[in-house]
Amino acid sequence: MPDITTAHDLDFVKYLDESDIRRRVEELGKQLARKYSEKNPVFLGVLNGAFVFTADLIRACPIDCEVSFVKLSSYKGMQSSGVLATLIGLEVEVKNRHVVIVEDIVDSGYTLHSFIPALERLNPASIDLVTFLLKPDALEYELNIEHIGFEIPNKFVIGYGLDYDGLGRNLPALYQLK
Ligand code: IMP
Ligand code: MG
Repeated sequence: MPDITTAHDLDFVKYLDESDIRRRVEELGKQLARKYSEKNPVFLGVLNGAFVFTADLIRACPIDCEVSFVKLSSYKGMQSSGVLATLIGLEVEVKNRHVVIVEDIVDSGYTLHSFIPALERLNPASIDLVTFLLKPDALEYELNIEHIGFEIPNKFVIGYGLDYDGLGRNLPALYQLK
């Protein structure tokens, strides 16, 4: 994979390569396996961005578990619109289940800040958060995130499921805006 890529009108440079990502995702999978063995957790991937991370994470977590997805979104282009488009999905029964929300990236934290109370109303046994990326300098809401893949600077990134206006999700590495 090249070190520079373009999406629409913008140039991006490689920030994390595939092997760094694989290694870290495997560690997270093992952590979660230790925490949730015998608990049959429900991994709840947040679409669209988290589909790649969720697929790799569950395969790195060798315990009984289920996986489902919800669709939430507050992003248009490169800025959070601050409006959480309605949740699509949640087809799985979460009552009394251990739910692990799987995010691609926590930026302002608004998405999870709005989603968690909605999930709590469904009375799960517990709610945990795992995010592939966190931008600590962009965080505006208090969230208790125990499992973080990488903390990154407050710059736009694409690849490994993350997009810029639709492009870049299929890049196996992570690229940062030049
Ligand atoms: P938040 O609600 O501000 O925390 O934003 C979370 C959502 O915005 C993530 O789940 C992503 O879908 C999207 N997002 C935030 N930062 C980036 C980025 O750097 N690249 C691509 N998508 C991003
Ligand atoms: Mg997302």
